[in-house]
Amino acid sequence: MATALVAAAGAGERLGKRGPKALVDVAGRPLVAWCLAALVGSSSVDALVIAAPAGFEDAVRELSSRAAPELPATVVRGGATRSSSVANALDAAPSAELVLVHDAARPLVTAVLVDRCVERLRGWDCDGVVAAARATDAVKETDAGGRVIATLERANLWAVQTPQVFKANVLRSALASAALERAYDDAQLVEAAGGDVRVVEAPRENMKVTTPFELRVAELLLSSRQA
Ligand code: CTP
Ligand code: MG
Repeated sequence: MATALVAAAGAGERLGKRGPKALVDVAGRPLVAWCLAALVGSSSVDALVIAAPAGFEDAVRELSSRAAPELPATVVRGGATRSSSVANALDAAPSAELVLVHDAARPLVTAVLVDRCVERLRGWDCDGVVAAARATDAVKETDAGGRVIATLERANLWAVQTPQVFKANVLRSALASAALERAYDDAQLVEAAGGDVRVVEAPRENMKVTTPFELRVAELLLSSRQA
């Protein structure tokens, strides 16, 4: 079984709402409650650690006991960067052997995807797996001035999401040795430390809510899911 580390401590500046993004209402529930429902519905997660925005720890604790009463939950204060929030959450799970990191900003995650990621890590016995959708746009690389250097081979390109599942000790040492402020995700830190990280194909629907546009799309998708 895995311990889920939920990164929910961001400010949500690009969303531009009053208050932190994790607590913004989406289709009748706070954003973070949607992923908790998927985690509680999975069969491979048996504990939760949630990194909450400073000052909102109690609100998140209460919300978790309502959305995921079956899962023992610890709420910690998030850090200045996403990686430091994940590191704080990991510190609160010292005996975990397998950890699943998920961003509260991805409310469309499903129990099926959670279970698939955990099962693939076990089956492949690698250091980490990341949910990812195949690239559908052509992707070009440019220099700083916008001049195209290369058109990348789309067949080998993936848009990376969460969940990301790791052997806990591999993530612990990657987080301890890295410059956390520069990392896009935890897998990047594990890769930089020489770890074996693989992708698990995931639906594009497992999108991240960043701007008001994605909030609107998520709202439409989650409202129909509820019905
Ligand atoms: N996150 C976190 N701690 C931080 C920053 C981000 O736990 N210090 C979490 C967010 O809560 C989110 C995920 O990491 O679930 C992805 O981050 P992002 O989408 O950038 O969310 P925010 O940082 O909240 O948004 P913004 O960058 O627009 O402020
Ligand atoms: Mg951010």
